[in-house]
Amino acid sequence: MKTSLNRRSFLERAALTGAALSWGTSPGVSAEKAGTASTAASSRPAFPPGAWPIWDETEERALMDVLHSGKWGRTASGAAKVREFESAFGSRMKATHCVATSSGTTALLTALGALNIGPGDEVIIPPYTFVATFNAVTASYALPIFVDTDANTFQIDAKKIEAALTPATRLLLPVHIGGSTCDVDAIAALGKTRNIPLIEDGCQAPLAEWKGRPIGTFGIGGCFSFQASKNLTAGEGGAILTNDAAFADLCYDFHTPGGAKKSPSSGRGANYRMTEFQAGVLLAQFTRFEAQAKLRDENAAYLSSLLETIPGITPARLAHGNNRSGWHLYMFRYDKTKFAGLDRARFLQALSKEGISASSGYARLNTSAHVQAIAQNRHYVRLYGEKAMKTWLDRNQCPVNDSLTEEAVWFGQNRLLLPKSEIERCASVIRDLQKRAGELVRT
Ligand SMILES: Cc1ncc(COP(=O)(O)O)c(C=O)c1O
Repeated sequence: MKTSLNRRSFLERAALTGAALSWGTSPGVSAEKAGTASTAASSRPAFPPGAWPIWDETEERALMDVLHSGKWGRTASGAAKVREFESAFGSRMKATHCVATSSGTTALLTALGALNIGPGDEVIIPPYTFVATFNAVTASYALPIFVDTDANTFQIDAKKIEAALTPATRLLLPVHIGGSTCDVDAIAALGKTRNIPLIEDGCQAPLAEWKGRPIGTFGIGGCFSFQASKNLTAGEGGAILTNDAAFADLCYDFHTPGGAKKSPSSGRGANYRMTEFQAGVLLAQFTRFEAQAKLRDENAAYLSSLLETIPGITPARLAHGNNRSGWHLYMFRYDKTKFAGLDRARFLQALSKEGISASSGYARLNTSAHVQAIAQNRHYVRLYGEKAMKTWLDRNQCPVNDSLTEEAVWFGQNRLLLPKSEIERCASVIRDLQKRAGELVRT
């Protein structure tokens, strides 16, 4: 019993930040391939279930190689790691160009900078996203316009975008949230018809596919993050993918002062370069990435098949053409009325007691203090006018998203790397909780 409790409390700590690997695997993927086997030769610590990131001597060697080479940044003569990573990630995602950056945020800032998005421009974003999507827009003093969420997929509701367009709309910036995809076909078609560029925020979604095609190039480009919690990580890191050579050059030049591509300058730029150390670690992580993704695919499908049989638990549906999720998050809706009124916080607490850590996910971004502050920001008031900023606050209403933020529950990508028995235990704990819910409500 004690061992079991220890193991559970360990899993809890591991939950939303990392992946649990070393207990074995689901059928078809060997533990070794998924990066779960212990490596006697390595000086790495033994990875308990839930540990993330996973690394071994491959990462050690990559870091030492860069260290000893003395070429620590991509601008050093003969530096090759960032280029190598760009080529590997770009070709895996079937994009002809990749520009690596220091983070997902700087990938977004670079893409928006390359398009010269700025004051007076409106940018369409979802409210169900990490605040970085919003920040990338306001860092350019453009106006983020929220389009409500589809309650079934948790993604931006593509059908509602057109009504939010104005003559000032200069960019569509949908997000592939949780690693699953939004209806990127419909959004790309709308962008084409209305001549508005599309940048996909794919920060959570490397390897995700729409109708068999990796995301990131449905519009002019896509942005990715390799931050510490991400499925492919170097602690921090990012990338822009595109099939447009001119846009790739603009991004390259924007992200490096005095950029070498000689693209037509907007007079703007920054240093958002990825380091050779980051690229070395990413290349090492890449060696396990596919096997880990396959394991997540299998476990997510299995978990859904179990959870779908529980009244009140509704896994986020994949949008119609989304035939591969990157599974950064496993998201579902929790209906407390099917659990004797047990509220979500207490449901999460009860899961946590069983060593199953879960999160309530994003709060309402569109009405958060951070977002509302823009309406009083002196630059915004000067640029857009007080009245327009008040109207903007009114435009920010997203009722579907409001309800979703009350009902959502997430498991981190780490849960999808646990052995099958742990996936089964998760569903049976929820089933058991449903039976005990009335009693829990009364205590
Ligand atoms: C949807 C989304 N966009 C942007 C970002 C920003 O990426 P980073 O943290 O690498 O700057 C993140 C990171 O979590 C994200 O989830």
